[in-house]
Amino acid sequence: MTKKQLEESVNYLINKGFDNPEIGIVLGTGLGKLVDEIKDPIEAHYNHIPFFPLATVEFHTGKLVFGTIEDKKVVVMQGRFHLYEGYDFLDITYPIRIMHLLGIKQLFISNAAGAINLEFKKGDMMLIEDHLNLQGGSPLAFKGVAEFGERFTDMSEPYDLEMRQKLIEIAKENDISLQKGVYASVVGPQLETKAEYRMLKIIGADAVGMSTVPEVIVANHLGLPIVAVSVLTDECDPDNLKPVDIAEIIEIAGATEPKMVKLFRELIKQL
Ligand code: HPA
Repeated sequence: MTKKQLEESVNYLINKGFDNPEIGIVLGTGLGKLVDEIKDPIEAHYNHIPFFPLATVEFHTGKLVFGTIEDKKVVVMQGRFHLYEGYDFLDITYPIRIMHLLGIKQLFISNAAGAINLEFKKGDMMLIEDHLNLQGGSPLAFKGVAEFGERFTDMSEPYDLEMRQKLIEIAKENDISLQKGVYASVVGPQLETKAEYRMLKIIGADAVGMSTVPEVIVANHLGLPIVAVSVLTDECDPDNLKPVDIAEIIEIAGATEPKMVKLFRELIKQL
C-alpha cells in the first residue's frame, strides 16, 4: 500500500461521482439491505477500483455504493474482506483508508457474531463497547506506518461515546433491544471449540466474530469516530454446543436486519 495507490483508488471513485461522503458504513454478513435505502446510488464494484484487493470468487458481489440516506451523503461497503479469505491485514483495511480519503467524518460498522454472554439471545443486537484483538496481528504493523499517522495508536476508547449514547437512546425510543458488550475477533473460518468458547468467556468476551477489529484499529489510526453493532446469530454455549448451521446464521442475520437498518437510519438522521 502506497500513498500513490490510495490516491488512484480515490480518484477513480471521485470521477465516478463519489462526492464528499460524510458517513462511511460497513455492512456485515447477511446485512446488505441498507443499500436499498440509498437515494440516487452510484456503484463501484471492488474489481473495478484500481488497487482494491482482488476479489475472490465467492466475493464477486462486493461493491461500494455512494448516495444519500436521510439527506446525508454516505458511502456504503456492501461486503467486506476477511482474513479467512486469505487477505492480509492491509488488504482488509484498505477500504477504510479509501473512505477516509473520500472525506467521511464518521464510520458505522456492522457484523454477525456469536453470543458468548448467554444472557444474550440469538436475534439480539449488541452495541460494541470495547474489543479483544485475537487475530494475531495488526493492520498497523508495517514498514512506513508512521507516514500514515501515529504508530502507537491510542485505543483507550476506540468506540465513540457520543454515537454510542445516541444509539442507546434511538433503540429505547423505538423499542429495539440493544445489548452492550465486548467483541472478540478471531481469524476463522473454522468456528470455535467448546474449550475456546470457555476461554473467550473467561477473558471477557460477550460476542465473537471474524471481522471488525482491524477496521476499528485503522479507523482509530485515522482519527475517525466509530460506532459498531453486532447481530448475534447463534448462542455459543460450551455445555450445550450443537454443530454450527451457517444457513441459520445467515437467516438470523437477515431476520434481524430491519432493526439494524432502523438504528443506522435514525443515527444518520441525528448526525
Ligand atoms: N463464532 C461463533 N459464532 C459466530 C461467529 C463466530 O465467529 N460469527 C457468527 N456467529
